[in-house]
Amino acid sequence: MSEYIVEMKHITKRFPGIVANDDVSLSIKKGEIFALLGENGAGKSTLMSMLFGMYEPDEGEIWIRGKKEEISSPSYATKLNIGMVHQHFKLVENYSITENIILGLPSRDKRLGFLPYVDVKKAEQKVAQLSERYGLEVNPKDIIENVGISVQQRVEILKMLYREAEILIFDEPTAVLTPQEISFLLEIIRGLRDKGKTIILITHKLEEIKQVADRCAILNRGKLIDVLDVAETSTKTMANLMVGREVNFTVEKAEPKFGNTVLEVQNLTVKNRDGFSVVKNVSFSVRGGEVFAIAGVAGNGQVEIADAIAGLMKIADGKVILNGKDISGESIRKRCLDGISYIPENRQDVGLVMDFSLENNLVLKTYNNARFSRKGILRAKEIRANGEELIKKYDIRSGQGCQTIVRSMSGGNQQKAIIGREIELNSALMIFVQPTRGLDIGAIENIHKQIIAERDAGKAILLISLELDEIMNCADTIGVIYNGEIQKIADAKELSTNQVGEFMMGVKHEK
Ligand SMILES: Nc1ncnc2c1ncn2[C@@H]1O[C@H](COP(=O)(O)OP(=O)(O)OP(=O)(O)O)[C@@H](O)[C@H]1O
Ligand SMILES: [Mg+2]
Repeated sequence: MSEYIVEMKHITKRFPGIVANDDVSLSIKKGEIFALLGENGAGKSTLMSMLFGMYEPDEGEIWIRGKKEEISSPSYATKLNIGMVHQHFKLVENYSITENIILGLPSRDKRLGFLPYVDVKKAEQKVAQLSERYGLEVNPKDIIENVGISVQQRVEILKMLYREAEILIFDEPTAVLTPQEISFLLEIIRGLRDKGKTIILITHKLEEIKQVADRCAILNRGKLIDVLDVAETSTKTMANLMVGREVNFTVEKAEPKFGNTVLEVQNLTVKNRDGFSVVKNVSFSVRGGEVFAIAGVAGNGQVEIADAIAGLMKIADGKVILNGKDISGESIRKRCLDGISYIPENRQDVGLVMDFSLENNLVLKTYNNARFSRKGILRAKEIRANGEELIKKYDIRSGQGCQTIVRSMSGGNQQKAIIGREIELNSALMIFVQPTRGLDIGAIENIHKQIIAERDAGKAILLISLELDEIMNCADTIGVIYNGEIQKIADAKELSTNQVGEFMMGVKHEK
């Protein structure tokens, strides 16, 4: 038998207007952690979707355990013991963890010896056993909508293990996790490999590749550039190979020139659906020309602050003042017109209309401006021109340019589209929540440059990020939040990464 458990030979996959994979050949050894690296839209998800039977290649062959296979469906992939955790999870919100795991499996249990039924109790036991064996702590009875992202991800992993997957594909599993959850997941992935599983890991984070992967393939615009031995390759080399140029990891910026106060948040309290205060009496202000960053571990109220300012969540107490005007009671649309740009955390739910074209998504907030409509009639030419401008300026890559349906775009390019649209609103206040999540390092560099350019143009920037590096790199002022309360506000130059980390954990309590 071949030394390789997976062999992809000369794979080509075309979509309208684009060659997503161009003659790619990869061989993966049993029991290794194989990383896949490449820019947004390079074709990573597409390549792995073919291994999982979601698409069939136009050309080329896939061999599994030394045998040529036509993987025509995910259920056939499952039969070949291949499993995949997708970039965007696919769970049923109101089902329990166990129900989600067994969903779609043929029932093998028979009542009275012949009536098929599903023995949920037995399934729960098996889920509990698997979760113990692989260190994936979950309560099999919990309902999905009541558990956090990292637990949902464990459910996706358990779902693969329940189906006895031997080849496990992870598509950007760490993009949605906090640093603590990431190290935990990397441990789990190592553990899976040590128990003999083969892992394919798609990630944009070079340190993660360095930490766990044995080998790493680099894709660029559909083509395989190289396969590297991770132990012998520096992250800098990986970055340069991937982007095709030198990448600058530090953000260059001039001294800030602060203008007038643009945003004032006064004694803000926000409650969640259960009436529990998630933001408690928070006050801060942001001036023109300033990047004010809120640092904090996920789930400490930072997203709710952003939502309350933008109008997506109700204010229970306190005020939000924009350019001297109290906007606390205004609608989302009114606030946007008053001068707020918002890049939300969840791009697919709030940021985009997935089945609209890219050009229409790019005018979602401006379509009734004089430029884009006259007497209630949309001006297609102008919408097209605007789309073309933004695609170029923000390097939004897709198969069919302006007319691409957003759903078919790669995750990172969807994010670039939202960022471009919001920056172009030219608002006095720009709120960025996790702006670079899921972006490749070249794109991150560009977004950081754009944030600084807006700051230098006098905009007030509120940056909310879980990436401490991003905060330390971009911020002029840092506010640290813990448990819904601001622990500390200081000039970014006066705080070290370690100090910020301590405040984030609620260790220090001076104000
Ligand atoms: N179903 C589809 N229909 C049309 N085009 C598609 C489809 N799926 C992917 N594409 C295109 O194929 C290219 C590769 O996309 P893919 O999702 O594989 O990129 P990726 O490397 O995973 O990027 P990211 O890091 O942003 O997730 C993109 O240009 C994308 O627009
Ligand atoms: Mg992808």
